[in-house]
Formats: sequence, structure tokens, C-alpha cells
Amino acid sequence: MNFNQRFESTVKDMKKGIIFSMAVACILGVQTAVAQRVVISTEKTSIVLDAPTGGDLNFAYYGEKISDKDADLLYDAGQAWQQAYPVYGLWCQREVALSVTHSDGNMTLQMKVQGVEKNGDVTRIKLKDTHYPFYIDVCYKTYPGKDVIETWAEYEHKEKGVVKLNQFASAYLPIRYGQVWISHLYGSWANEGKVEEEPLRHGMMEIKNKDGVRNSHTDHAEVMFSLDGKPQENTGRVIGAALCYSGNYKLRIDTDDSNYHHFFAGINEDNSQYNLKSGERFVTPALALTYSHEGLSGASRHFHRWARSHKIMHGTELRPILLNSWEGVYFDINEEGMDQMMKDISGMGGELFVMDDGWFGVKYQRNNDSYALGDWTVDTKKLPHGIQGLIDTAKKYGIKFGIWIEPEMTNSKSELYEKHPEYIIEATNREPVKGRGGTQLVLDLSNPKVQDLVFHIVDTLLTKYPELYYIKWDANAPVMNHGSQYLTKDRQSHLYIEYHRGFEKVCQRIRAKYPKVIIQACASGGGRANYGVLPYFDEFWVSDDTDALQRIYMQWGTSYFFPSVAMASHISAAPNHQTFRTIPLKFRIDVAMSGRLGMEIQPKNMTDKEKALCKQAISEYKQIRPIVQQGDIYRLLSPYEKLGCASMMYVKPDKSEAVFYWWKTETFVNQQLPRIPMAGLDPHKNYRVKELHSIDQKPLAFEGKVFSGAFLMANGLEMPVEHDLPWHERIDYSSRVLYLVAE
Ligand code: DGJ
Repeated sequence: MNFNQRFESTVKDMKKGIIFSMAVACILGVQTAVAQRVVISTEKTSIVLDAPTGGDLNFAYYGEKISDKDADLLYDAGQAWQQAYPVYGLWCQREVALSVTHSDGNMTLQMKVQGVEKNGDVTRIKLKDTHYPFYIDVCYKTYPGKDVIETWAEYEHKEKGVVKLNQFASAYLPIRYGQVWISHLYGSWANEGKVEEEPLRHGMMEIKNKDGVRNSHTDHAEVMFSLDGKPQENTGRVIGAALCYSGNYKLRIDTDDSNYHHFFAGINEDNSQYNLKSGERFVTPALALTYSHEGLSGASRHFHRWARSHKIMHGTELRPILLNSWEGVYFDINEEGMDQMMKDISGMGGELFVMDDGWFGVKYQRNNDSYALGDWTVDTKKLPHGIQGLIDTAKKYGIKFGIWIEPEMTNSKSELYEKHPEYIIEATNREPVKGRGGTQLVLDLSNPKVQDLVFHIVDTLLTKYPELYYIKWDANAPVMNHGSQYLTKDRQSHLYIEYHRGFEKVCQRIRAKYPKVIIQACASGGGRANYGVLPYFDEFWVSDDTDALQRIYMQWGTSYFFPSVAMASHISAAPNHQTFRTIPLKFRIDVAMSGRLGMEIQPKNMTDKEKALCKQAISEYKQIRPIVQQGDIYRLLSPYEKLGCASMMYVKPDKSEAVFYWWKTETFVNQQLPRIPMAGLDPHKNYRVKELHSIDQKPLAFEGKVFSGAFLMANGLEMPVEHDLPWHERIDYSSRVLYLVAE
């Protein structure tokens, strides 16, 4: 039975008395319903929908790219055939993407296809309610050469009053029941991006965020579904999903006994009911979907390529190597100290210095976290020659200069708050709950005046100091009080949504005027790793936890969805300031150089030998930077397997060069570790192997030797368990970075 035959038979069933009504046909001006197959394809994947005019929009297929012939037979093969965008009200017992209350109190929707529009890479399936003037566009977008399909929904109505949106997911995806596992990321401050993997069981699984400001602490809005049992890195079918939103979200997976896991993703509707006015358009954030039969790493590669080209600011450009002042001096900013740090990073080959928190405040000095957010005037007691003086110093040392701000926030001890108490988020009749430092308050970005203020903070800095090269944009508080002094009584429940609309508007204004400046999204560490902010930001701070061992776990998980070009990863001090663990410098370097390399340390406390090792590593990183920041990721052995080591690699798309990382994750005497086959190389190419910044007395046995890609991928190379060092210099953590070049 092909699409048309199947549809005719469905219509026959309907006419037997179930759903199809002549009224629908009349309202839609439709004489006969004609089945319409909609195939949305990328190079390697396809989504197939059944969109008969006047009928239901059904989801038929998502997976490997299929031929028209096979697509014709999907119904006979027994594919999904679920509503592509389930709505509430008739057949009420199932989970839905959208539920509304019409202006007359009716709580049902019955949507039928009006037509399909294709405009470039965007396909819109236009739906209309059978009774109410309520419209939904279910949209799909592809990107040339990328195996990611974005999907979202848009609503509009022409009813007399408001329509209340009670639930408004971006998308729905049915996933065939079987050996399906989910991989997702959890973890809050200093423990971000930790991987959790579990088989999907019956019942409802919910992954959500309610921070209000940041959304990748506690959980992440991205997940992977491994369809062939326990997730594997380089084999097996995987569907990846990433919600491109900066605010509160909810992902639901309902596993009932219908043979499907029902996956919904979108804005978190909790305390966010939306009153949609007549003629107003509500656009949900996009859900980015990918499919790969090359395991988790395959899905990651799809996300990374798409993200670098389309979803990360300057995603295809290489990032400078920087020193950030935070862990080196914390709030103790002064001119002499900044000069010394700039000189030191320049001496080690760094390219940029970033002055973190503590540089501002006149009436209230920013000597700790209780004061002055909002008062973005330089503290000339600390920095007599101001920011320009620092920029000049950076120039003297041949590096660029960047600065920290936290523009969405204020402190109750600040001149801004004294002048504009109406700018903060607080509930009427309540004392505001305050955050960091006992005084931190969130500015109300739903208010256009606050949007102007935040834009002007950045605008003033960049106009006054056009040579500012980098901004670290921090956000250290959640929405702690539900209340907007700007939104009207009937729109208080819009606060979370309007905050992020306001935030996005500000970002758009900044990027329209300052397309070049590098901006890091920091939010108490890794609170803003998401594809809602990254189109405006170049990178994110993975975590305030810079401990190299814990970073292996965090960066591993984060790399599922985000490419290394966006993952700020810094060499910091030992003992580490968060875990107090003492890890040798070599290992700290080797972990940091698997991401966007930087330093977060007081260089004046480093020995000359340590500085020399960093200098060497920085110079080598410059050589491998294009592979690390733009290459394809192949994760090999997960630290979560607890086999004593972890390993991954980046391979240049033309497979001419690769970088292999190997880190020991624990140390025991007479330890046995697995030998790790490589991946992603060209089996027919021969690769010369070079270890980078080796600290051993003797080169490794394979140093400088040439191996075929086939051999390396079948066997790997044997990594010595320890570094070969004089007895008194021996270290517990060993690690290797190998550079492979095809001959
Ligand atoms: C939190 C950030 O995550 C840190 O890196 C640092 O910038 C501090 N804020 C400064 O207050």
C-alpha cells in the first residue's frame, strides 16, 4: 500500500464515523483530501511526514536517508504513524506537545493540514483548527552539507480574546521501543556536564531546568538516544536532540505500551502560562535533531559541524590562547599585578589576557562579591591608568586584552540599584530574595529600558575602548523572585519567557554593532552551555572546577553536543582551588589542550621549568589548534567506563592529521590498562607519530615511526603506564598527546 492508497483507506475509516468531518473540508475549502508525502532530507538522514490536505499531520520516519521507493512503502513496513505534533483535547489520555484554553474556555484542539510550504531550506506544514481560527506551523529546517534537522512550531490565532498556552513544546519525536538508552548530562556548579546513561523504562522521564537565567546547571537541554542497547562511541544507531534555547526547558520521554517512547522538548511551561493575543505570533525555540549509525561520537560530529558553521559565533575561526586573571588573583586587581600577568602570559606564547572580576566600582568598590554590579566604571584606585592603560600594556607585550562583566545583574549595594530599584526582578509585597554575596539581584530583561541598559554597558565599553578584544559575560544568579515590575498583572507568568526574549534582543543588538568581538558565555562556570546563547557567543566556560581529573569527565560529556572550539579549558594551579587535588603540570596541560586552551593561574608562582613546559605546550598547541578546534571528534575510551584511563582524538576532515589524547584516570602499582584502538583515520594512509611536550627521559618506542591508519585503528599503540622520570621526579598521573601526520 503506498502513501495515497494508505490515505484513502484512512479516510474511509474516518468516514466510518471517527474524525473526519465535512465541516473541516468546508472551512478549509478542501474538496478532496490528497495524501502528501513530505520528505525532509540531509546528506545522510531523512524525516518523512504524511501531510494530506484536510487530514492529520502524521510522523512516518526519522533515520538513515531513504529512497522515494522505500518512503512509499513506509506504512506497509509499519513505521511510526503518530501525530507529528500532538495536541490536547480529543483523545485526552496521551502526552501532547500543545495544550491551550481558547478564549471561550474550550480546551480542545483539532488540527488539520492546510498545506505545505517549502522556502529554501525551511519546510512549513500549515495546520488549522477545524473550528477555531487557531493556526500552527510545524517547521523543519535543514542546513546544506550538515546532518542536522531543526524543528519547531509557530502559533497564531484570530479569536476574540486571548488564548492561553498551557503547554507549548517545540517538537515531538516518536522513538521505536526496543533497546533504547538515553545519555544525558547532569551536574551543577563545579560538576557540570557529567554523563548519565540508562535504558529507557516504562513511565515518564523528565529532564528540566527552572533557573530562569542560566540553563545548563543541574541538567542539560540536550540528549542522545542509542537505539541498539548500551551506548557505544563509534558504533550503533543514535538520535541526538538539542533544544536551542537559553531559558527554562522541559524534555519529557513518555514510555507507554504503544511501542514508542514519546519524546517532547520545549520551553518549560511551569509557572509560564502564556496569554497569546489575537494576531500575535508565538515561535517556539528549535529542537535540533541528528541521526548517525556511527555511535555517540558520530552524532557528536554532526552536531559539531552544524554548530561550528551555524550556531556558534565565529565557530569556524581559531581561538586565541589566553590567561584569565580569576584564579590567579581573584578580586585583588591592581595595575602592577595585571602588568606582571600580561608579561608572563606573553612570555609563554599566549595571545590574550583577560581581566576578570574586581576592576570596577566607585562609590562601592568591588573587593568582594557583595558590591557594585551595575556600576561599570573603572576603579581608578586599583587601576590609575584605567582600561586604556591596560590595553596599552597588553600592546606593549604583543597580546590582546579582554575584560569581565556581568551585565544582567546588580547588587543592592550599588549605585545602579540606588538609582533604579524598579529595574530588578522582585515580587510585589515581598522583600526580594538576594543571591551571591547576600546582595545580588537580577535585572528585569523583560523591560525594554533594562534591555537598553544592558546593551549600553557593552556598547559603552566597546565604543570607548575599540581595542577590547574579548568579553567574559558572566551571570551568577538565577531568577530568585517571581515578579516583574515591568510586566502587567496579566503577563506576570510571561516573566521567564520575556527575560530570554529580552536577553536575545540585547545579544542581537550587540552582534549587529560588534560582530567581531569575542564573547565568552560564563554563568557561575558552565551554566550557559546551550545553543540558545551560542549563536551570539564564541565559547563558554565549561566549569569553575579546573581540576584536570574532574575536567576529563566534564569535558567528555560536554563534547557530546558542543565542539572543542567553544569549550574553554584552562591550565590551573596545584593543589587545585576547587578539589585541592595535586596533579602534575603535564597532565593539567594535556587535559586543557583537548579544548580551547587557556590558563587560569598566577604565573608568578610557577617555576621557570613549569613556565618552559607551558611555553612548549602553547607553541605545540598552536600547531595542532586547527585539528583540535575544527577537526572531527572520535571519543575512544570513556572515563565513565572506569577502566583506569580515558582516550579520544580529533581528526582533520581530510584525515591528513590527527591528535590523540590518553589520560590515566587512576594509579595503582602493577596496573593493567587497556590498549586503545584509534578511530577516524584513513586506513590507506600512513601516519608518522610524534609525542608532544614529552617529559620522559627517553622517547617512546613508537616516536617518529610510521604506521598505517589500518594498523592504528585495529590495534592502537601501547601507552606506557608511567612516565620515565628520575626517581625523585616521578609522578602519579600520566598522560600523552600524540600528533599524527600522514606522509
Ligand atoms: C563566576 C565565574 O564562573 C568565574 O570564572 C569568575 O568569573 C567569577 N564568577 C567572578 O566573580
